[in-house]
Amino acid sequence: MNLVASEKVKKMSASIFQEMADRKMQAMNRGMDVIDLSVGSPDLPPPAFVIETLVKYSKDPLNYGYTLKGIPEFNKAVSYFYRHRYSVELNPLKEVLQLMGSQDGLAHLATAMINPGDIVLVPDPGYPIYEASVTIAGGVIYPMPLKAENGFLPVLEEIPLDVLEKTKMMILSYPGNPVTALADKEFFKKVILFAKQHDILVVHDFAYSELIFDHHEQISFMMIPGAKEVGIEFNSLSKTFNMAGCRIGYVVGNEKALSILASLKSNIDYGVFYPIQKAAVAALTSDFSMLEEQVREYEIRRDTLITGLNKSGWSLEKSPGTMFLWVKIPPGWSSREFAFALIDEAGVAVVPGDAFGEQGEGYVRIALVQPSERLSVAANRIDEFLTKSLLKK
Ligand SMILES: Cc1ncc(COP(=O)(O)O)c(C=O)c1O
Repeated sequence: MNLVASEKVKKMSASIFQEMADRKMQAMNRGMDVIDLSVGSPDLPPPAFVIETLVKYSKDPLNYGYTLKGIPEFNKAVSYFYRHRYSVELNPLKEVLQLMGSQDGLAHLATAMINPGDIVLVPDPGYPIYEASVTIAGGVIYPMPLKAENGFLPVLEEIPLDVLEKTKMMILSYPGNPVTALADKEFFKKVILFAKQHDILVVHDFAYSELIFDHHEQISFMMIPGAKEVGIEFNSLSKTFNMAGCRIGYVVGNEKALSILASLKSNIDYGVFYPIQKAAVAALTSDFSMLEEQVREYEIRRDTLITGLNKSGWSLEKSPGTMFLWVKIPPGWSSREFAFALIDEAGVAVVPGDAFGEQGEGYVRIALVQPSERLSVAANRIDEFLTKSLLKK
């Protein structure tokens, strides 16, 4: 049989992540001690009470059936979380939809919302599922460049009118992946006006809502008046409570958009494992003390790596959030050359910036998913690597 991938699958670019994984494996097979800062999977554990809840409900054989959709308790827990963390009121029945991780919702969103040929505005650089979701739906991407000189915010005025006429959706993420910048309320207000003017659904990915550092305000898009009229916000327990493999997330906001996505999902999946839903309820309604400790841990990791790199001639500023550093690489390298040489020669794995879009060229993404001591070692190795390569060049 001559099996060939569909045109849609051919358009998707998973290859760079696969190539990084292969290079990591090869380096380890050569006996190298690899410091893996490439994948954004938390190394920190979920809170003990979350694991205990999961274990307790997993012991009951009656809990292994299809759940079909979120239990009402979960939706109420999300409302509680949003009220306590961002002073946002959500109707648990209509303005909260459970997902098998926010990726599930992001991946299916475009199929639910757009028709082939419709345009979706996506951040460049941006988290790869945004583009993949549009590709699956047969839509057209319009990349919004996120540039350092604009605070990594898209310049809405630069989007041509003929593009806006065909635009159905705009995706934003602050703080995001790989760009860790924050947006302020003024920007979000502008986005709401813009969305109303052009009839665009705003999608805010807030997966790093609880990894915001140095007491910067945590701004949910839902805090802005009018947000629910034009937008939805994705969130997740993966990074907030370190439950990344325990797949559960949610989307909140515009009732109509959520019901459309829910109707697509009802054709696709049978719901999240009941014990995971109960564990998520426990996490979302806890006293949140672990969140502060966690922020402190990531701040220390960020500071360790930045201080280490700055000692060897970089001039990196403190990132305001997420588990990543978005780092401009020295001139003379492409992102891929740099990332490949760094893993091959120094045993430090990072992701080349162009994996996230054209504007990512010249950057690498470094994930803070190792303890500070290892990050110090990584900074030293990067320093030695650069010194050696300067000598070679
Ligand atoms: C910006 C962003 N959004 C969404 C996700 C998906 O997270 P999950 O599906 O685990 O909720 C990730 C995962 O890394 C992410 O970085």
